Amino acid sequence: MTQLLLVVGARPNFMKAASVLSAARARGISTQLVHTGQHYDRELSRVFFDELGLDAPDVSLGVGSGSHASQTARIMLEFERELLRIRPEIVAVVGDVNSTLACALVATKERFPVAHVEAGLRCFDSSMPEEINRRLTDHLSTYLFTTSRDADANLAAEGIPQDRVHLVGNTMIDTLLRFRDAARSRRAPETYGLTPRGYAVLTLHRPDNVDALQQLGTIIDTVATIASEVPVLFPIHPRTLAQMRGTALEARLTRAPEIIVTEPLGYLDFIGLLDAARLVLTDSGGIQEETTVLGVPCLTLRESTERPVTVMSGTNTVVGTDPDVVLIAARKILADDAPAGGVPELWDGRAGERIVEILARSAPDKLPLLLGGRR
Ligand code: UD1
Repeated sequence: MTQLLLVVGARPNFMKAASVLSAARARGISTQLVHTGQHYDRELSRVFFDELGLDAPDVSLGVGSGSHASQTARIMLEFERELLRIRPEIVAVVGDVNSTLACALVATKERFPVAHVEAGLRCFDSSMPEEINRRLTDHLSTYLFTTSRDADANLAAEGIPQDRVHLVGNTMIDTLLRFRDAARSRRAPETYGLTPRGYAVLTLHRPDNVDALQQLGTIIDTVATIASEVPVLFPIHPRTLAQMRGTALEARLTRAPEIIVTEPLGYLDFIGLLDAARLVLTDSGGIQEETTVLGVPCLTLRESTERPVTVMSGTNTVVGTDPDVVLIAARKILADDAPAGGVPELWDGRAGERIVEILARSAPDKLPLLLGGRR
């Protein structure tokens, strides 16, 4: 392969793609970066390009927000036109957002081989849009690059041929390891008046947790109790802010003085804040992985995780949102009774290189195409 098109759309995609892009460029492979525009606010998009040293996207589709159907459909329409103009050898998609599935579907139907970076993760809860996106993208892909052995087993159980599956490690961790020192040197905790190991970080954006005010209120009340014991920094996602704006819940949050609410943070400050935290509470997928590598205790405010390796080998505990369960788990950590974790196999900063190595070896006429040869 000499020409790779890489798709990004939403915040967690940028750090995963950065590693693949730099590995491809180091091998002299021509790359085209397509940004769907699923995330468009500066704090959810542009800041990551700046801090990760990424060039501006070659193509910006500018689709913006919308219902799942309208967002996915707009991405498909716009992406199809660009794909047929660029005609890359391989299309790489990352993660599990709507942009991932939309572009994988277009590429497959136009008979371009698809590489899925972060394949095989399953939480077995199909009420989550990401679970639908992951499962379908995997079944469309020719190359499935996995981060852990449980992902390989999930793909095998779904009948995906093993010769398409490659355990390569974690590209989000490649970027974390590359930028960890730069993040630390910014001393972000001090900027927010926090003492290293003397605060918690909270992130919340899953529809299950934030779209119903009652559920969101229960979580905020639990966090307010934790915040009476340790300050909590809460960079708020636009989706969560939109739900709360003008409600009694927003007033409740403002009244809890030990919850420090900020806008979404840039990558370096956020990693710096995770790195020095005593405790992290989150419903994000990527943060479960980052805290595992940083060795920081993480409580996942969901009923399940698609990343069991962070629980088995890492510092993550899936606690759900029952206030009593969350409080007991948080107090255990604050009492320094957190399980020591290790770093999962191959999360060593070289996943992007392994992916590019495998793709570079594939000759176009020998691609194991899923649905026939490329036109
Ligand atoms: C999306 C992904 C989720 C990922 C998350 C990271 C899907 C289905 N969801 O969720 O997997 O973990 O990104 O952030 O792909 N909005 C803005 N500015 C933006 C983008 C969105 O204000 O730049 C607001 C809009 O009101 C939008 C809402 O946030 O309706 C939700 O955005 P959307 O991209 O639909 O989903 P996320 O919740 O961000």
